[in-house]
Amino acid sequence: MIRDYDSVYAQLRSLLEGETDEVVKMAEIAAVVHETFGFWWTGFYRVVDGELLLGPFQGPVACIHIPYGRGVCGTAWKRAEAVVVPDVEQFPGHIACSSESRSEIVVPVFGADGSVRAVFDIDSRDLAAFTDADATGLARILQLL
Ligand code: SME
Repeated sequence: MIRDYDSVYAQLRSLLEGETDEVVKMAEIAAVVHETFGFWWTGFYRVVDGELLLGPFQGPVACIHIPYGRGVCGTAWKRAEAVVVPDVEQFPGHIACSSESRSEIVVPVFGADGSVRAVFDIDSRDLAAFTDADATGLARILQLL
């Protein structure tokens, strides 16, 4: 599926103009991406005290703590690159916060020093909902943080 990330980027750039608080920006990015594309779960985990800690999100209740290298989120953090999972049941160590999730994408957020300071995680109830094009579109949106 081709998704129009350019429109979402433009909408969020205007919405977030002048805003500096990271929680505000993460909350609005999660809301706009989630509502625009109708995903199952959309949100952030921040790197806090050496683990991933749940941040602003839209969707059902989620796991709060994810260790480095664990699950799709911890793997994206460790690799410092986007991870696209067409079928979560085929991903060793996938953390099932919701039994409804079938596919997933996780895109890292980089700090000024080049290290990963958060990840943006999206779950779909459809198999193979994401491609590298989603990773590219989302990475551009995350530059608004
Ligand atoms: N499935 C993720 C955990 C986070 S939830 O999907 C919101 C993972 O394996 O890291």
